[in-house]
Amino acid sequence: MAAAVVGGAFLSAFLDVLFDRLASPEFVDLILGKKLSKKLLQKLETTLRVVGAVLDDAEKKQITNTNVKHWLNDLKDAVYEADDLLDHVFTKAATQNKVRNFFSRFSNRKIGSKLEDIVVTLESHLKLKESLDLKESAVENVSWKAPSTSLEDGSHIYGREKDMEAIIKLLSEDNSHGSEVSVVPIVGMGGVGKTTLAQLVYNDENLEEIFDFKAWVCVSQELDILKVTKTITEAVTGKPCKLNDLNLLHPELMDKLKDKEFLIVLDDVWTENYVNWRLLKKPFNRGIRRSKILLTTRSEKTASIVQTVHIYHLNQLSNEDCWSVFANHACLSSESNGNTTTLEKIGKEIVKKCNGLPLAAQSLGGMLRRKHDIVDWNNILNSDIWELSESECEVIPALRLSYHYLPPHLKRCFVYCSLYPQDYEFEKYELILLWMAEDLLKKSSKGRTLEEVGHEYFDDLVSRSFFQRSNTSRWSHPKFFVMHDLMHDLATSLG
Ligand SMILES: Nc1ncnc2c1ncn2[C@@H]1O[C@H](COP(=O)(O)OP(=O)(O)OP(=O)(O)O)[C@@H](O)[C@H]1O
Ligand SMILES: [Mg+2]
Repeated sequence: MAAAVVGGAFLSAFLDVLFDRLASPEFVDLILGKKLSKKLLQKLETTLRVVGAVLDDAEKKQITNTNVKHWLNDLKDAVYEADDLLDHVFTKAATQNKVRNFFSRFSNRKIGSKLEDIVVTLESHLKLKESLDLKESAVENVSWKAPSTSLEDGSHIYGREKDMEAIIKLLSEDNSHGSEVSVVPIVGMGGVGKTTLAQLVYNDENLEEIFDFKAWVCVSQELDILKVTKTITEAVTGKPCKLNDLNLLHPELMDKLKDKEFLIVLDDVWTENYVNWRLLKKPFNRGIRRSKILLTTRSEKTASIVQTVHIYHLNQLSNEDCWSVFANHACLSSESNGNTTTLEKIGKEIVKKCNGLPLAAQSLGGMLRRKHDIVDWNNILNSDIWELSESECEVIPALRLSYHYLPPHLKRCFVYCSLYPQDYEFEKYELILLWMAEDLLKKSSKGRTLEEVGHEYFDDLVSRSFFQRSNTSRWSHPKFFVMHDLMHDLATSLG
C-alpha cells in the first residue's frame, strides 16, 4: 500500500482517500445492507476529521518535537489499520462480487468490533493532542517569515551582477502592451535570493532617474487586495490612508498614478487566483506605459498569471559565491586562527549541502559565527539540516512553508520522492508511472486519464521548485529532473 511506503507526511492526503471510500455509494450500500452500525461509521469519520484538523500542526511540530513524532507514528498505524479494514471489505466485495460468501467468512460482528477498536484507538490518541499542544487547523500559524522591506540589510551580496543587470534592463525598457502595466516576475525556490535581488534593483541609482516614484509592498500569503492597495496608496501619497473601501480606494489610487511613471515591487506573492490579480492591478493601468511592477514569487503558476513581459527565473548561486556567503556570515576570513585551514575545508563541505541556496549558506554560516571549534563545524556538517533548531536555522521554516502550501495530493507525491537517492536524476514519465503504481494519483472527475493527472501533478511540483530541471545530467538532456538536496532532505524527514 502506497501510504505504508511513504509514511506519515501525507497522512492528511491519505485521509482524503479514506473519506472518499467511506462516502462511496458502493461502500455505504454494502455496509448498511449488512446492518453495520451507521453510528459507528459516522464516529469513525468524525474521529478521522479531527485527526485531519490537527495534522498540519503535528507535521510541523514533529520535526523539532520527538513526542509529536512518536504520536504521529502511532496515529499513522491506527489510520492505516482503518484503511486496511476498509480496503479489505471494499475491494473484496467489489471485485469478487461474492458478498455473501465473503461476509459469511468475515462476519458483520467481526468487522463491527474491529471498527470499534480502531475508533477507540484513534480517540485515545486524540486525547493527547492538548498535552502535545497541537492546534486544530493551524493554517493561520504559517507566518514564519518576517515581512520584507525595501532596505538591504547591509550584508555582502555575491554573484548577482548579471541578474541585476538583466532585471534593470527589463525595467528600463518600454515593453508594455496596450494599456496594461508591465509586470516582471522573478521566480525561484524559497531562499534563493529573490527579495534580495529585488532590493538591489529597487535601490539602484540608475532607476532613480526613470521613475517618478517607487513603492515596496510585502504581500506574503493570502493576497489581501484592500491592504495592498492601501499600502501602495500610502506610499504614493506619503500619508496614512483612512479609506477602507476598495470602491473609494481604487479611484483615489488611479488618480494619483495617472500619467506617472512608477515602479512598484510586490514581494512574496503566492496568489494563483487570476481574478484577484486583475482586480488588484486595475488602478495601475493608468500610469505611463513605462511604469512597471516587479514581483517576486516561488510559484511559476503565479508568475504566469501576472507576467506581461517574460518570467525571470532566478537560479541558485555558484558554489564559489555560496561559499562567500557562508564565510561572510561565519566571519571566517576576518578571524583567522590556527584552525582556519581545517575549518575552511569543513566549511566547503557544508556549503555543498546548501547547493547554491544563499539562505542555507547564511543560516549555517550564522550558526558557526565566531565558533572556532572543529567539533562544532563537524557537527553541522554531519547533521541533517532538518533536525537543527528552527529558531537558529532560518532555512527550515522557509522551505517548509512551500511544503505547507502544497495541496494534500501533491504533498504525498512529493514525500514519495524521498525514496529516490539524493541527487538522483529522474524522468517525468518514470515518476508518473511510479505514482500510478502506488495509487497516489487522484482520479479526475473531468474524465482525464491518470497519466494526464500525473503530468499535471509533476508540472505543478516543478513550478513550485520541488523538482528542478537537471543541468548536470548524465545525458545532458533537459528531460531529466532532480530535487534540490534540501528539498530531498525535507521529503525524507517527513517520510
Ligand atoms: N546573492 C546573495 N549573496 C549573499 N546573501 C544572499 C544572496 N541572496 C540572498 N542572500 C541572503 O539569503 C537570505 C534569503 O534571501 P531572500 O530572502 O532574498 O530569498 P527569497 O528567494 O526571497 O526567499 P523566499 O522565497 O522565502 O521569499 C537573505 O537573508 C539574504 O540576505
Ligand atoms: Mg522573498
